[in-house]
Amino acid sequence: MQDNHSTDTRHANILQAAAALAKSELEHEGSGHDWWHIYRVTELAKRIAAAEQANLFICELAALLHDLADEKLVDDPEAGMKRTENWMLENGVTAEETAHVMEIISTLSFKGGAGKPMTTLEGAVVQDADRLDAIGAIGIARTFVYSGKKGRPMYDPNIPVRQEMTPEEYRNGKDTAINHFHEKLLKLKDLLNTDSGRRIAEQRHTFMEEFLKRFDREWNGIDGL
Ligand code: ADP
Ligand code: NI
Repeated sequence: MQDNHSTDTRHANILQAAAALAKSELEHEGSGHDWWHIYRVTELAKRIAAAEQANLFICELAALLHDLADEKLVDDPEAGMKRTENWMLENGVTAEETAHVMEIISTLSFKGGAGKPMTTLEGAVVQDADRLDAIGAIGIARTFVYSGKKGRPMYDPNIPVRQEMTPEEYRNGKDTAINHFHEKLLKLKDLLNTDSGRRIAEQRHTFMEEFLKRFDREWNGIDGL
């Protein structure tokens, strides 16, 4: 059994190495999962973890590694998961900690996680942090960047909001940035797991609603005067 001091040092070294790994792998990523997404999710996860009295090390490590094996970033998510797991075991993360982080990031990913609830408090924290980064001012900005990258319009009144869609339709169907708010982003606040997450989501949600109202007024030229 290690004493507290050496555990703290081991944890600090691991977190530093994990941040360096995420930075180098995701620096040039263009789909909204770049290093700065990881940075924001990690900062949020730390704050929510403290408020919810979750294990800080697990939350921070899972946040740093959560997108390395995402289906949008790597050709083979299974191999990506295996690499992430091996990286942890080779960098001083215990078998138990590794299993916990792997459980979190495999449930988080869109494919594996569709609808599955998180099984631990730490998972709930990191999922909330990831979801919060898709709403509010940052969420608005990411949505327009993503739509632009996909060559989609910011808005088109002739493209209807979809109520139900398959994962394939979700990724590649006809869509606009504004529709994405109705298809996903406005629903996220009710999917959060923790009280702290919900509190942060409240303000971000209200800000998006105000943005959408204003967008609509400006679109139709009925604002101001
Ligand atoms: P996650 O990996 O958390 O499931 P996504 O890949 O769905 O996240 O989304 C990454 C970012 O891109 C988010 O900010 C999200 O709102 C945005 N995004 C995803 N799908 C769309 C879409 N169809 N239109 C506009 N933005 C999107
Ligand atoms: Ni993410």
